Amino acid sequence: MSQKIKWGVLSTAKIGLDLVVPAMQQCKFAEITAIASRTLDSANAAAQTLNIPMTFGSYDALLSSPEVDAIYIPVPNHMHSEWAIKAMQAGKHVLCEKPLALSITDIKKMIVARDAANVKAGEAFMVNSHPQWSKVRQMLQDGAVGKIQAIQGFFSYINKDPDNIRNIAAYGGGALWDIGCYQIHCTRYLLGKEPGSIMAQVRFDPNFKTDYLAGAIMNFDDVMASFMVSTQTMHSQRLSVYGEKAKLEIEIPFNAPTDAETTVVLGRESVLKQDGETIRLPIINQYTAQGDEFSKAILDDTEVPVPFEDSLHNTAAILATFESARTGKSIKPSDLI
Ligand SMILES: NC(=O)c1ccc[n+]([C@@H]2O[C@H](COP(=O)([O-])OP(=O)(O)OC[C@H]3O[C@@H](n4cnc5c(N)ncnc54)[C@H](OP(=O)(O)O)[C@@H]3O)[C@@H](O)[C@H]2O)c1
Repeated sequence: MSQKIKWGVLSTAKIGLDLVVPAMQQCKFAEITAIASRTLDSANAAAQTLNIPMTFGSYDALLSSPEVDAIYIPVPNHMHSEWAIKAMQAGKHVLCEKPLALSITDIKKMIVARDAANVKAGEAFMVNSHPQWSKVRQMLQDGAVGKIQAIQGFFSYINKDPDNIRNIAAYGGGALWDIGCYQIHCTRYLLGKEPGSIMAQVRFDPNFKTDYLAGAIMNFDDVMASFMVSTQTMHSQRLSVYGEKAKLEIEIPFNAPTDAETTVVLGRESVLKQDGETIRLPIINQYTAQGDEFSKAILDDTEVPVPFEDSLHNTAAILATFESARTGKSIKPSDLI
């Protein structure tokens, strides 16, 4: 195998064309070799714009190509498991967009397919590859805020386009699947453990039937973590960790810019005092970093950044959030696995 993994992109999704493909074209250990679309014209147009060598007019044709080592999958959420399994059965490594799948059953099937094919596979939580998260986790472990009591997060944008995949219930649309997944994933990452139980409330759009506003409290033993997500609120994102002696705020937790530093603010005393310390993280493209980390895991035969076993727990927590809102009861994610 060459020192650069040859990637094929399964679809002309906006996230791929706008962010992930250009970012992975800057990778040290990856190159974008091919793109497939349901129509060859779309694949050709994308390839011409982004200078991608090979095109295919169907997803199956891409999976059959011996020129490609690994597949990046950014199709609508309800299609993730089907195409990830097909790609792995074709012997390809798979980086699949978040949320990995919409049920525990599907993820278990994906794990079986991965192991049968002996390939590398993971969920595309690019946030894991941004140094601000490892920095904050290390600071928390080093006692920067003292004993952690609470975590609070908010993530929102406004999108009322009925044709957008986020507003189509049958495609796995809605706030929890689209962005609640980040709140849960990043909280689990920071604490290094799973929520024991979740209490939630979820509001559904009367037309789309997708959740447009959702809030949950996750119980992690001694820490309580709450979040709200919305697809119909002005764009905003923040995640804060509160401890006995200080608080840490990640100012741009999820969509870290590629043209400006990200900052984490450590505040020690009252809101009235300007006593905060601002930690500046270097400018990086988290999609380039993700592509390199994943490709290096293939080359070195090591663990990928976010393996399917991690996704199993994240998905159980998302499903527990829905189930709590539906029943009005506290739900244990572990009961759903
Ligand atoms: N990690 C991140 O930062 C990030 C950001 C945004 C989105 N995402 C994830 O990436 C995925 C794609 O999101 P997106 O907003 O880029 O989606 P999008 O622009 O709507 O693209 C989805 C693509 O899937 C293909 N497709 C196949 N069957 C389809 C169907 N029945 N309906 C619609 N499209 C179909 C289409 O490609 P062809 O026509 O070429 O076949 C389409 O271009 C989602 O899972 C989302 O959660 C991740």
